[in-house]
Amino acid sequence: MSQLSTKHLLGIKNLTEEDIQLILDTAANFKEVINRPIKKVPSLRDITIANVFFENSTRTRLSFELAEKRLSADVVNFSSANSSVKKGETLVDTVNNILSMKVDMVVMRHSSPGAPHFLSRNVNANIVNAGDGTHEHPTQALLDAFSIKEKLGDVAGKKVAIIGDILHSRVALSNIFCLQKLGAEVMVCGPITLLPKYIASLGVKVELDVKKALQWCDVANVLRIQLERQQIKYFPSLREYSLYYGINKKLLSQLDKEIVIMHPGPINRGVELSSDVADSEHSIILEQVQNGVAVRMAVLYLLAGTKG
Ligand code: CP
Repeated sequence: MSQLSTKHLLGIKNLTEEDIQLILDTAANFKEVINRPIKKVPSLRDITIANVFFENSTRTRLSFELAEKRLSADVVNFSSANSSVKKGETLVDTVNNILSMKVDMVVMRHSSPGAPHFLSRNVNANIVNAGDGTHEHPTQALLDAFSIKEKLGDVAGKKVAIIGDILHSRVALSNIFCLQKLGAEVMVCGPITLLPKYIASLGVKVELDVKKALQWCDVANVLRIQLERQQIKYFPSLREYSLYYGINKKLLSQLDKEIVIMHPGPINRGVELSSDVADSEHSIILEQVQNGVAVRMAVLYLLAGTKG
């Protein structure tokens, strides 16, 4: 197979295993390209891509922009904070106005779950979800899978514990779908208040004790406490969260094996992860960021080859 089964990347849920493998294989080729002295290829020379961000981002926005430039696409960047959205313009009107300037693809981050799905039904362009609220973050899950495969040789058969604020995390949901489709075992771990009630129905193991989760897994993907999405208190204090769920060198030294530490960023140092772990030889956090460019190049390149 050399083409994706979809013209949009809205989530991992609707991708086939073949789609995911195709993206990871294509990303491996692009990783080789971006490590060359000349990092640019002409693959998307006649394509224009708009990065439309209604929510803050450092890694995802810069990574998409670099991926687009490495593929020789033309790029425009839109940030809602200084746009006519502030004057009341709707999402569909905003994007249709951008598309009327001969834009072909839209990469969108939005705080509302389902916003990219809605957009894909109402505008004529390839849509890439760069994170929709608490729902999905498909390119993060793809770059996480790529990074696990690169570090451990394969994803199939590996045990991955996702630890932290599962309730508010789009990274958790996309990772669960992606890892399971690739044959990994998945566990979620966190305070009971930060685990969605439906989570066990997704076929994941559920663990409240972080020490047991760390002892079980090959890879711990540690998530940030998303205070900005929490309208009520889910735990007494950040200090208390850190005492019971924070991952530090002492905890890792008590395990009878070495595990890989991942984090999608941004890290709240000293809350979910101590600096002596985030910056240690166990951590592949910056490799994840580096791999994000190759994975996003693969996604954009493959979507550009789909028929509308
Ligand atoms: N991992 C991630 O999505 O980071 P940003 O919010 O900085 O894009």
